[in-house]
Amino acid sequence: MPLPPICTTFEPYFLLSNDKLNDIVDHFIKEMEGGLLDYGKDVAMVPSYVTGVPDGTEEGTFLALDLGGTNLRVCEVRLFGQHKFEMKQQKYKVSDELKQGEARVLFDYIADSVDAFLTEIGSDISSNEPMHLGFTFSFPVEQTAIDAGKLLTWTKGFAAKNAVGNDVVKLLQDAFDRKHIHVRCSAIVNDTVGTLLSRSYQSGPALIGAIFGTGTNGAFIDKTRTIKKLGEDKIKEAEAGGQHAGEYMVVNTEWGAFDNERNCLPISIFDNKLDRESINPRKQAFEKQVSGMYLGEITRNILLHLIDASVLFKGYSSKIINTHYGYDTAFVSGVEAAKSPEEVKDLIIKQLGVDSKHIAEGDAEIVQWACRVVSERACKLAACAIAAVVKHTGNDKIPSNGEEDKGVDVGIDGSVAEFLPRFAERVSETLVELLGEEGGKRIRTGLAKDGSGVGAALTALQAKKAMDKRT
Ligand code: GLC
Repeated sequence: MPLPPICTTFEPYFLLSNDKLNDIVDHFIKEMEGGLLDYGKDVAMVPSYVTGVPDGTEEGTFLALDLGGTNLRVCEVRLFGQHKFEMKQQKYKVSDELKQGEARVLFDYIADSVDAFLTEIGSDISSNEPMHLGFTFSFPVEQTAIDAGKLLTWTKGFAAKNAVGNDVVKLLQDAFDRKHIHVRCSAIVNDTVGTLLSRSYQSGPALIGAIFGTGTNGAFIDKTRTIKKLGEDKIKEAEAGGQHAGEYMVVNTEWGAFDNERNCLPISIFDNKLDRESINPRKQAFEKQVSGMYLGEITRNILLHLIDASVLFKGYSSKIINTHYGYDTAFVSGVEAAKSPEEVKDLIIKQLGVDSKHIAEGDAEIVQWACRVVSERACKLAACAIAAVVKHTGNDKIPSNGEEDKGVDVGIDGSVAEFLPRFAERVSETLVELLGEEGGKRIRTGLAKDGSGVGAALTALQAKKAMDKRT
């Protein structure tokens, strides 16, 4: 059965042409370069004060905390060198009350979780030294050192009061100290930075670490000199190997906020509805088209529209479809993986709660269409972000200095990357469209799972080394 004509009218917002994608990459590069020049930009280009990537020889035992995905995780990471590590971890639920209540209560909860972890699971560390902890805090933070930074804004459904503008490391350390927990937060790290470090530790030097999960973001290694907003003095100090820096620095792009001004992203009525009803309207424009928190919700808005137009489910909805964030991106992945319309029909009944007598012939194909166009767009946009970083760093071309071409390695983590069918293939195809056969094929993407845990440990190690050097 052909799709109802109303569907095809929305396709230009989802099936993006190569011209459109190239335009998006150009805008992306401009916004990134703007963020390197000045503070206060949407694409914040945060200097991480992490000065290089590990080579796999690093050793030691560290605690890692991970806040910003679906759960709070506490981990104990043992780095053995030789690219190997071992991790014990425990997940703790973060309720909506905690996410949106007082920051102090949230940080007390985090400290209590670390305490519970150490009591129940962590190794018995009998030294008098406090345990070093790397804090993967996956929100935009304007860092001023490897262990200091102010929260710029919350994203991904968090809105705890009295946190924005405050130093996140201090909020956490104060909570540990209030409770006499013998842990020192020695580094704050974004999950993308963690992913980049973890990928490099495990499989050799990478250029980019990217998250396509609840939210989306990327970090990469740039020349410190390029981060002009640091100011000439700080750049010189950094290049001379000053306190926390070196010739290179990992930059956390915060690309989820790309095009908040809406200059080039394709914004359909479904995106507008999602944005208006979100707790952060007009923010994280790119993230709202790419990441796992939102893909299910965009398709829900499409299905609702088609139901209201009486071209789907005979005009009947269900409680789940009528509920804000009533189902999540796992449904989209399920439909994308389904082998037949019957399988899709089954998912519609079981996961969306639609009464089987309301499912007409052709409805499963309409739902499949909605999931496909939303995923297709997400994958293409994901590739645009990677292509922009690759071009900005001049890595879209084979090195002309006669050196062996090692290609470009990108470590990726997150539920969308892991569970959305054909995510990596679709991204690679688009990279070839954007950078040409030669440029696109040089880019290798690989899953770097647990980046937030291992990466936080590696950052804590870097911070500890810098600290030991000073004392
Ligand atoms: C959001 C956060 C960012 C994080 C990303 C992935 O975009 O602002 O810091 O890296 O989600 O978790």
